[in-house]
Amino acid sequence: MINYNYKKGNLIFDDLNIKNITEEIETPFYCYSLNHLKDQYLSLDNSISLKDYEICYAVKSNSNQSIIKNFANMGSGADVVSIGEMKRALKANISPNKIVFSGVGKNSNEIKFALENDILMFNVESVSELKKISSEALLQSKKAPIAIRINPDISAGGNEKISTGKAQDKFGISWKEAYEVYEYASTLNGIEIKGIDAHIGSQINQLEPFSHSFDKLKEITSMLKNKGLKIDIIDVGGGLGVKYKENETPIDVKKYGELLSEKLGELDCKVIIEPGRFLTANAGILVTKILHIKKSDIKNFVIVDAGMNDFIRPTLYGAHHNIIPLKEPEKLENLKCDIVGPVCETGDFFAKDIDLNDINEDDFLAICSTGAYGSVQSSNYNTRASIDELLINNGEYEIIRKRINEDIIIDKDIISKWV
Ligand SMILES: Cc1ncc(COP(=O)(O)O)c(C=O)c1O
Repeated sequence: MINYNYKKGNLIFDDLNIKNITEEIETPFYCYSLNHLKDQYLSLDNSISLKDYEICYAVKSNSNQSIIKNFANMGSGADVVSIGEMKRALKANISPNKIVFSGVGKNSNEIKFALENDILMFNVESVSELKKISSEALLQSKKAPIAIRINPDISAGGNEKISTGKAQDKFGISWKEAYEVYEYASTLNGIEIKGIDAHIGSQINQLEPFSHSFDKLKEITSMLKNKGLKIDIIDVGGGLGVKYKENETPIDVKKYGELLSEKLGELDCKVIIEPGRFLTANAGILVTKILHIKKSDIKNFVIVDAGMNDFIRPTLYGAHHNIIPLKEPEKLENLKCDIVGPVCETGDFFAKDIDLNDINEDDFLAICSTGAYGSVQSSNYNTRASIDELLINNGEYEIIRKRINEDIIIDKDIISKWV
């Protein structure tokens, strides 16, 4: 959860009185604590004692270039899933030889671009993709460095929408077919086998699923090496969980580091870790203004100016996010309410049946732990603007993405000559 406290009745986040920002920046807006981003990276980095490893930040969790650049400065590589993310990572100074390209549906353009930029490796998810990558590589007279993403058939993750490692999920190649696919890959002239990869899901707060996945990776790596294949890199994916609510125990990152050493330390391979949420989730808050308070005998609604288009996790995943007022409650005047947005959907909510004390129209709320999978999943549904993103550092803030207002969005439409 976020590192906040109240001082003189105002919410302080990373030494900044957030209420002061609302006097200068239109709500809603996201803000991220640079100190928290750095602390999380260091806690993971310091927990790992493997001889050779690379943290490749999963750009999908928050792809703002200032966030990527901060991690690049700390030594991170990047895990990307599109040409857009690859371009962002490169622009943010991530060296191409620290970029891994994941995802089930890479198109020819994306493969071509990745090859031209000599990235570290492609995490390949199907035989069809393997053939495409090989052909593109041959056109560039290159060999494409690849790992096969295996599906270890392990259930993990905060909910079924973020579980990726079960047999019925679309990701990876069944671990049972791994050898066959590697053997085939070794016959393709445009392919250079580099490693093996797995990613079993997200918001994993227990060590057990990781332990099973690392065992599987170790078992298959040993088998492939015994058969004469060269496996130099083991990519264990991301998935490390964080604390979103009071009673949640986040992953013990020290123990995660120890597990990596225990399971993979003796294999003489570089290990890649692809954390996203762990680094960014609790660095962010979404600040929103209360527009209306609508009370009835059945239900009370607090209608805020942020909508599901700005932050979709509650409705998409049923995710819990603490919501706190920027002004410390003075009276115990409890209101049980739903916090909802202005979008014309019943699913446009941030919390249901929560208790808020001493709130009024025009007050501000912070939706907590919104640094990961927040802004990156936003849309312009209902022709709503894309909102500002700010970075906070020791009591100051900077805008790191400017609002894209509705006029710019409307201007993208082209009125057809037939109407
Ligand atoms: C291949 C891959 N790696 C890494 C991640 C990052 O996961 P997390 O944010 O849970 O660390 C994801 C998330 O979906 C992913 O698909």
